[in-house]
Amino acid sequence: MAVERTLSIIKPDAVAGNLIGKIYSRFEDQGLRIVAAKMMHLSREQAGAFYAVHRERPFYNELVDFMTSGPVMVQVLEGEDAINRNRVIMGATNPGEAAPGTIRADFAETVDENAVHGSDGPETAKTEIEFFFKSDELCPRTR
Ligand code: TYD
Repeated sequence: MAVERTLSIIKPDAVAGNLIGKIYSRFEDQGLRIVAAKMMHLSREQAGAFYAVHRERPFYNELVDFMTSGPVMVQVLEGEDAINRNRVIMGATNPGEAAPGTIRADFAETVDENAVHGSDGPETAKTEIEFFFKSDELCPRTR
């Protein structure tokens, strides 16, 4: 299985709920390493551009409202099969459908405020990592 990198965001609901450490533990306990991280309060321009693929969807404006409602933690996760592994750790988009033990099942209530984002494939992982980080901001492990 190839070592991959994926973009993860702890969304404003989970940051507000003081859940950063618990969510980081899920990543680390399940084999993902954090190789870059920063806390940010996204502008409407940044959130709108990040979710541009959804701009025709009915929930787009509320999604931008939510993503700019407080700080987020943005991180790059690295590990074997990291993109899919992170999606499994997150659980389904709708917390009501998320498998027990996943972040969304345990820490989120609704589909529009669902605690975490994770890239959904290799192409989006690359673009989303480049959206937030310069290549020299990534810190691959040397030990
Ligand atoms: P999507 O890419 O479908 O899900 P995921 O985050 O699991 O990759 O949707 C992006 C985000 O848009 C989702 O995390 C929350 C928001 N959203 C809503 O607010 N309402 C909805 O009905 C859907 C499908 C998504």
